[in-house]
Amino acid sequence: MGSFGMLSRRSLATDMPVMAQIRKLMAELTNPMSLAQGVVHWQPPEKALAKVKELVWDPTISSYGPDEGIPELREALLNKLRDENKLTKSAVMVTAGANQAFVNLVLTLCDAGDSVVMFEPYYFNAYMAFQMTGVTDIIVGPGHPQTLHPDADWLERTLSESKPTPKVVTVVNPGNPSGTYVPEPLLKRISEICKDAGCWLIVDNTYEYFMYDGLKHCCVEGDHIVNVFSFSKTYGMMGWRLGYIAYSERLEGFATELVKIQDNIPICAAIISQRLALYALEEGAGWIVERVKGLVKNREVVKRALEPLGKENVKGGEGAIYLWAKLPEEHRDDFKVVRWLAHRHGVVVIPGCASGSPGHVRVSFGGLQEEQMRAAAERLRKGLEELVLRGLVD
Ligand SMILES: Cc1ncc(COP(=O)(O)O)c(C=O)c1O
Repeated sequence: MGSFGMLSRRSLATDMPVMAQIRKLMAELTNPMSLAQGVVHWQPPEKALAKVKELVWDPTISSYGPDEGIPELREALLNKLRDENKLTKSAVMVTAGANQAFVNLVLTLCDAGDSVVMFEPYYFNAYMAFQMTGVTDIIVGPGHPQTLHPDADWLERTLSESKPTPKVVTVVNPGNPSGTYVPEPLLKRISEICKDAGCWLIVDNTYEYFMYDGLKHCCVEGDHIVNVFSFSKTYGMMGWRLGYIAYSERLEGFATELVKIQDNIPICAAIISQRLALYALEEGAGWIVERVKGLVKNREVVKRALEPLGKENVKGGEGAIYLWAKLPEEHRDDFKVVRWLAHRHGVVVIPGCASGSPGHVRVSFGGLQEEQMRAAAERLRKGLEELVLRGLVD
């Protein structure tokens, strides 16, 4: 008996990507409005796009580049990490997006069978990255019931009691799907707990500039810490697939292993995307902050649309592009509610079950400009009013 038709147990045991399911759902609808995918409504800086347009005939664009990224971009990133993130002892590897960066890190740091720690509600792709690499002992810690901040006391207990000690702890700051940020003292405490336990800490900073109400994003640095970043939302470069990893420059062996993984997945991030990233960085953080400011109105519009669920049931939104809402108790099957909202009210959101928290939904306020956002939010509000008053009526 051969193995034709037998698929890997790792892959079979991995969750279906929620966005693939949502895309399928949207294809069933005639005029859907999406508050589902985590995207921004802007494109990369005009000047940067214009420069890249000139580059397509340059033969270096069509060739491979160094696994770690083109030197000019890496240098620009080191400057950015130093000036904006206060990371002064970090080396950098450019990747085809933050998701690929995360998979690289899981393959570099974890063996199948290792245990790892995440916090609820978790970022679904990070969870899947563990699953698909055989890291199936995923310990999911609680968030604070009000703030959704990772519970550091629980982490301290868990790392000291679990044998063997979990290999990796990961947090997203600010969070997807919750939109909550991790305040600096808490991030430092988590870092110290991981260090004392001899455990890696991966921090996903994809939404580093997406902070509201005067809150400030911060990073931590150390030999046990790896920071992940993305160009997707910041510079509106989702489709260009560009991110990077910042890790301690003192970890020579780490860099060697990381290159092995990189060389077998993308070899290098697309050179044209790296060039665009380089030119986008010339615009600087101000370019992003200006656009993020424009999302404040969107957030208010979506927050109001969620009011039928009760203000106390709507959380997050201090950062990133998400609000996180609890559905009425009787609607724990959140995917059923998502399908109903889509088919009956023409608006699409993400079910909390994809992040380990059934009975919730994630609503993105980044993907539409204000007028369209108002129209989508109106559909959502009507849908939620009906849900609360009458349930899932036909
Ligand atoms: C927390 C988080 N990390 C990573 C990613 C993926 O980013 P990229 O497009 O750079 O792979 C996302 C995208 O939604 C995200 O929300």
